[in-house]
Amino acid sequence: MRLVEPTHQPPSFSPADCDRLREVFQRCGFDTDGVLAALGGQAHAALSRDEPEPARRASRDAGDLGTLIRLFLLGDTEPVTEVERVFAPLGVDRAVELEVLERSGNGLRAGLDIRPHGDDEHSWWVISDVDQVQRGRNRSTRVDHVVGVGQASLSLVRATSRRPVGSVLDVGAGNGVQTLYASTHAERLTATDVSPRAVALAEATFRLNQLEVEVLRGAWFEPVSGREFDQIVCNPPFVVGPPTVDYTYRDSGLGGDAASELVVRSLPRHLSPGGTGHLLASWLHREGEDWAERVSSWLPGGVDAWFVQRDVADPALYVGTWLRDAGIDPRSPEGSRKASAWLDFFESQRVEGVGFGFVTLRRTDGEATVVCEDLRQAYDDPLGPEAAAWLDRVQWLRDHPDLLTERLRVADSVVLETISQPGDEGWSEQIRRLHRMDGPGWQHDIDELAAALIAGCRGLLPLGDLVALLAHAFDEQPQQLATGVRTMARQLVLHGMLEPATEDAA
Ligand SMILES: C[S@@+](CC[C@H](N)C(=O)[O-])C[C@H]1O[C@@H](n2cnc3c(N)ncnc32)[C@H](O)[C@@H]1O
Repeated sequence: MRLVEPTHQPPSFSPADCDRLREVFQRCGFDTDGVLAALGGQAHAALSRDEPEPARRASRDAGDLGTLIRLFLLGDTEPVTEVERVFAPLGVDRAVELEVLERSGNGLRAGLDIRPHGDDEHSWWVISDVDQVQRGRNRSTRVDHVVGVGQASLSLVRATSRRPVGSVLDVGAGNGVQTLYASTHAERLTATDVSPRAVALAEATFRLNQLEVEVLRGAWFEPVSGREFDQIVCNPPFVVGPPTVDYTYRDSGLGGDAASELVVRSLPRHLSPGGTGHLLASWLHREGEDWAERVSSWLPGGVDAWFVQRDVADPALYVGTWLRDAGIDPRSPEGSRKASAWLDFFESQRVEGVGFGFVTLRRTDGEATVVCEDLRQAYDDPLGPEAAAWLDRVQWLRDHPDLLTERLRVADSVVLETISQPGDEGWSEQIRRLHRMDGPGWQHDIDELAAALIAGCRGLLPLGDLVALLAHAFDEQPQQLATGVRTMARQLVLHGMLEPATEDAA
């Protein structure tokens, strides 16, 4: 397996360096609350939209914190005397050696991207490489560029269950953000990465945040060979394309969707019994092939799996998006050359689209459940709690194979929408749609009989009794009706729309 060789020796932060840097940040109040208070809501929001000017103005009255904001959040060059004052006790010379700062003309600017990041209860500092494109610096991005916390990172954060566990493994830790969040619910943390630079910056991130993390260098699961974890998270270099590496953070060097396949195939081997995996993945949509069959074929036995497809991009859109992500103008000669090679690759593989989404895995001794579904609609709720609940529901269904003997109730967040058309005899219902108003907002179109059945699911009668009553009322064959109801009820339980009324509720 290929190991990435460093473009130059990565910075090595000692525990003392991290203590001193933390002292600088704490003294200045450089944390999530401090930055928000200094900038105010509007300038802070503007900054998150990549509009720096309001934040630059607001930072002028913020003293030493303002200097740190301009250095690290705005990419500005600051006068040496001011930076020297702010950087005691680490010192500017040591900060330059560590790449935290770099000299620029008569001043100093950030050499690394260090920014406060957190949730409602935590504020951490995340170290990554400066985003050269965003800062408009006339320098190309290095192959082993350590990417900052982006939309993909945060989508995995939100898709990960935070139920307490013993051990968590973060594969491809990079800036370390997944491990930071894992520290809120896990007792032991292990982070791996193939890139020495990523390992160095992740180690620095963890030390700066006073977190004890086992950090290992190596490809994929090689550094943890033979070991098992209660939870594994992975935001892999999942960009789908020719087998080349332009940037380690997004290209695995494996062609097509082989990186996602490798992780889905290998991850379960490292799960303890009942352990779970949460990852981002991409998959090819190839002519004449069902994407669900493709991704299901990656799974080893003994694994419950939930593949959620959030989006599908056509090849042209996909290539253009990732060229721009790398700061390459698709109209430039370089852009044309790369796009052409990329599109040739897709054509040779009969690729019609690239799917992207979340995968939840669980090691199981029971008969495995594998579900691949499209969830392209917009929803606000984080997927992590839903993924944990989905696994609970899978287990409940496994333990209760005959749904007709179960008493079920409609979940509180479920409503029935009806759409009617005017006719000679007044309004006539054309569409009945069951809609879960929380989670991923699942919807199911149902007929009149199903609507009546679900209305009867109040936790009082077993489903089989309801079927018998409805068969009589609608003049249907009970056996035939029961078969369809079993399938429908299973789907509604999986989607959290019907739930068990008993004490062992899923
Ligand atoms: C998309 S970044 C994810 C960084 C971080 N975990 C996050 O969520 O923001 C992918 C990471 O995988 C690492 N990586 C690339 N190829 C790898 C491999 N073969 N084995 C392990 N890590 C790899 C990269 O160095 C990079 O840090």
